[in-house]
Amino acid sequence: MYHNPSAQLWKSKYTIIPSILQFHKTLPDYGKTPLLKLPAKSAEQLGVGTILLKDESHRFALPSYKILGASWGCIYTVTHSLGIPPTTSLSEVKQLVAVVQYTFCTATDGNWGRAVARMAKILGANALIYVPKVMVEATKQKIRHERAQVVVVDGDYDMAVKEAERAAVTQPAGLLIEDTAWPGYEQIPQWVVDGYSTMMVEIDEQCQELIGRSLDLIICPVGVGSLAQAVVAHYKSQDPPCTVMTVEPDTAACLKTSLETGQMTSIPTGNTTMCGMNCGTVSMTAWPFLRDGVDASITVTDDESAKAQEMLNDIEIRMGPCGAATLAALLGASEEEREKLHLNRDSLVVLLGTEGPRGEALDMS
Ligand SMILES: Cc1ncc(COP(=O)(O)O)c(C=O)c1O
Repeated sequence: MYHNPSAQLWKSKYTIIPSILQFHKTLPDYGKTPLLKLPAKSAEQLGVGTILLKDESHRFALPSYKILGASWGCIYTVTHSLGIPPTTSLSEVKQLVAVVQYTFCTATDGNWGRAVARMAKILGANALIYVPKVMVEATKQKIRHERAQVVVVDGDYDMAVKEAERAAVTQPAGLLIEDTAWPGYEQIPQWVVDGYSTMMVEIDEQCQELIGRSLDLIICPVGVGSLAQAVVAHYKSQDPPCTVMTVEPDTAACLKTSLETGQMTSIPTGNTTMCGMNCGTVSMTAWPFLRDGVDASITVTDDESAKAQEMLNDIEIRMGPCGAATLAALLGASEEEREKLHLNRDSLVVLLGTEGPRGEALDMS
């Protein structure tokens, strides 16, 4: 485990933007996702008080949380491009999108592209989604069912990002909508990160309702680190701040490698069952938050994620490999490591269960 003791005292200046949750409530199928309590026995075995899992397996009728960031990122990008306020009603935005005929371009390991494609469908835009060579056919099919065109690149996720960037320039009315930032492309990924804040607002309300107190540790899965940026920005602005632990596949640990070397470091990636987290470069805008505000970073293997998935399955919680990775991280932390994170028998731990099981019935709505 990588441990940064100074993160405990680091403060983020983030403040909640109320219009984001208000916007999400205007979208079809908005509903608060459940915060589920794991059995007391599991918490006891791991030496903590309570373990809650934020179940993002049904978010706006999609099987992952990504649509929270994709929706806010898309609406902000489109309204900004049209020169109208982001609070303009969906129906008015749709009318203008029909005139301009935007094409949303993006790269994805799966869930992100499907969420952008869904937003394109809601707004009446076209969608061109670039995917790595290793993507399984079923995932491509799910993106195509959102009426998007899927383009397979001869390489990994990082290459798909480059191809999407090229396409956005060559397409008439092309808009590049990515959840990862690089020099010169920072504004849209920041809007995406802002969109994820709805999840944290819900968690805070639910912790108060269920347990009557705020959380001590949150464990977040990392691909490019945009979700973790939102988590760090939110929880490190609280008093007392909550401890943040990140988890990555052992074969795609770009954040852990960067934290250990002290600078953003790209790494080659291979294959993993945790495909949403299969990224080789941390998002540039996420990096300063993660460098300063992540308390602990851990990696898990595909087998460890699969075991956690089985454990959750046994208690009727259905998660995919990324969704179960956060439980695998908690299970993988040694007693000594848990002590370093100040966990004790009273601690309230929240796991982000970011996706439902693979092979879910296609959502054709
Ligand atoms: C299900 C799931 N969990 C976690 C992540 C990681 O999010 P990020 O890339 O913002 O770090 C992703 C990314 O696609 C994902 O699809």
